[in-house]
Amino acid sequence: MRTRFAVTLMLLAAGCSKSGSQEQAPPMESGGGAVAAAPAGAAGDPAAKAKEIFQQRCTPCHGPAGEGDGPASAGLNPKPRKFSDAEWQKSVNDDHLVKVIRYGGAAVGKSAAMPGNPDLSDPAVIAALKDVVRAFSK
Ligand code: HEC
Repeated sequence: MRTRFAVTLMLLAAGCSKSGSQEQAPPMESGGGAVAAAPAGAAGDPAAKAKEIFQQRCTPCHGPAGEGDGPASAGLNPKPRKFSDAEWQKSVNDDHLVKVIRYGGAAVGKSAAMPGNPDLSDPAVIAALKDVVRAFSK
């Protein structure tokens, strides 16, 4: 009985607030510009996302400092190179890095042990991952 009473009250309350918010719709919408801008800003931090992804997906092989010494690198041949190698950094352009990260080593004639990341469909995140790789030699 008590529960039923509570539910009835909740339904009543929900009904009230619903009609209340409908009445308040115009003022809420005028503030909607600021609210609409917020999600765009929150979604738009590819750099933070890329750092997180690097920690999760790349460090097992590439190591936390990009030195190619992650725990899963032991059995790899060839081993992942040191991203700190400035000569190598100069020898590859950004397109190459983006392609390796997106499609894997085999796509650029490198080891297929370097996996692609086809699920990362946001080009900004792939570009930011490339920046993470670049940053290891700076
Ligand atoms: C399963 C192990 C593994 C994982 C996970 C991995 N890599 Fe690699 N990666 C490799 C190996 C092995 C190579 C070396 C390929 C070669 O030299 O033929 C490589 C090479 C690379 C290269 C250099 C390509 C070149 O031209 O020399 C880049 C850049 C790279 N990986 C980025 C990443 C990023 C970013 C991630 C995470 C999204 C990642 N890798 C995840 C194993 C891995």
